[in-house]
Amino acid sequence: MTTISEAGFDLDQIDRLLTTTRAVRKRLDFDRSVSDELLFECIDLAEQAPTGGNDASRRWMVVRDQATKDELGRLYAEVGTLFINARGRLDGSGHPKEKVVSSSAHLVENYARAPVLVMCAIWGIHDNSGKPGLFDSGIQSAWSFNLALRSRGLGSVYTTMLNNKSDEVAELLGIPPGITTLVCFPVAYTKGTEFSPSPRRPASEITYFDQWGFTRQRPSSEGTARVVDGQGVVAEIDTDARPAAVWDVITDIDMPARFSEEFLGAEWTSEGDPGVGSTFRGRNSIPDVFDWEVDCIVTAWQESEAFEWRVTDPDNPGAVWRFDLAEQGGGSRLRFSMLIGQENNGTVPQALKDPAKEEGVLNGRRRTLRANMQRTVEGVKALVDGA
Ligand SMILES: Cc1cc2nc3c(=O)[nH]c(=O)nc-3n(C[C@H](O)[C@H](O)[C@H](O)COP(=O)(O)O)c2cc1C
Repeated sequence: MTTISEAGFDLDQIDRLLTTTRAVRKRLDFDRSVSDELLFECIDLAEQAPTGGNDASRRWMVVRDQATKDELGRLYAEVGTLFINARGRLDGSGHPKEKVVSSSAHLVENYARAPVLVMCAIWGIHDNSGKPGLFDSGIQSAWSFNLALRSRGLGSVYTTMLNNKSDEVAELLGIPPGITTLVCFPVAYTKGTEFSPSPRRPASEITYFDQWGFTRQRPSSEGTARVVDGQGVVAEIDTDARPAAVWDVITDIDMPARFSEEFLGAEWTSEGDPGVGSTFRGRNSIPDVFDWEVDCIVTAWQESEAFEWRVTDPDNPGAVWRFDLAEQGGGSRLRFSMLIGQENNGTVPQALKDPAKEEGVLNGRRRTLRANMQRTVEGVKALVDGA
C-alpha cells in the first residue's frame, strides 16, 4: 500500500530514498561507465538547493581523465593512510568502527578506479565571518546530488579528505584562487540497489524543546510539555579519557553527591557485584524544604556503555536515570539523562494539580535537575581528565 502525503508525494518511495542513501564504497561498480547526461541531470537537480542570498555561486567539476584521477587518488591516499593503518589494527576486533574503517580503506586503495570523480566547489573562501554563503551554500546541494544519484541506481560517498590537499588539487585541476572545493564524490553504478537504513539515535533523544537538554519521550499532541508525553532532561560532555576510565567514575553511585546540590549520597542495598537487578538507596535534600530517600533498581549495566536505574517501581518508575558512554574522537562522550515518570515522584502531583501550570511545574523542575546534572558531568570530566 502506498502512502500519499498531503502534498501528493509517495512517502514510501521518498522515505526509502532518504533512509537508504548510504556511503557506498565496496559496492561501487568500477567497470560500468556513467554518462555525462546522467551527471547533468543530477547536477541540475542538485542546483535546486538553496544558496545564501540566492547567489548561484556553486561550480561542479567532473574528472574523467585517468591520469588526473590517478593523481587525485594518490593525493587522497596520502591523507587516507590513517584508514589503512587503522584497518590493520581493527580487522577482526569487533570494534564498532571496524566496518567503516575497512570500507574507507578499500576506497583509499581504489579511489581512482571510479569511472568519474565529481567535485562540488563554491566561489569564495571560508572566512569564518559568520555570514552564510560558502560551506553553508554547498553542502545541501552536494547532498541533493547524492540523492539524485541513488534514485537512478548510482551511488557515491561524501569524501572530504582531499580538502587537506586543496593547493595540490587546485594546481592539478587549474582551479583559480578564491574557489573552495568542498567535497569530491567517486561516482559509479552500485552493485545491487538494495541498501538499508542505518541505526541512528531517535529524534526523541536528540531533539530539545525550548531549552537546551529538554527532551520529550513522545510527541506532544498539544505541543506543550505534558506529563503524559514523558518529559526528560539531558546533560552531555566530551572527555579526553576513554570510556573504560569514565565508566569507573559514573558507576560510583555516591559520586554525584560531590557535584549535585540536591543529591546527598547513596548506598548499595543488595549484595555482590552490581549489575542488572542490583538495588541501592539514594538520599536527597532540598535544603529547608524537603528531605527524601528513594529506592533504586539497576535496569541496564553494560560495561563502558550504559548504566541505568529506575526509582521506586521499575514497572512504573518515578524517574529513569541513565548514563550512556560512547567513544568520541579518542575520548568519550558522556550523556547523563533523566526521564520524569508518570507517577511515584513529587513533581507529577504538583504538575497535574492545575492544567494551566503543568508546563511551568515540569520546566521548573527540569531546570533544577539539568543544572545539577550539568554540574555532575562537568565534575566527572574534571575527575577523569584531571583538569
Ligand atoms: C562531512 C563528511 C565528510 C566525509 N568524508 C569522508 C571521507 O573523506 N572518506 C570517506 O570514505 N568517507 C567520508 N564520509 C562518509 C562517512 O564516513 C559516512 O557517511 C559514515 O560512515 C556513515 O555512513 P552512512 O552515510 O552510510 O550512514 C564523510 C561524510 C561526511 C558527512
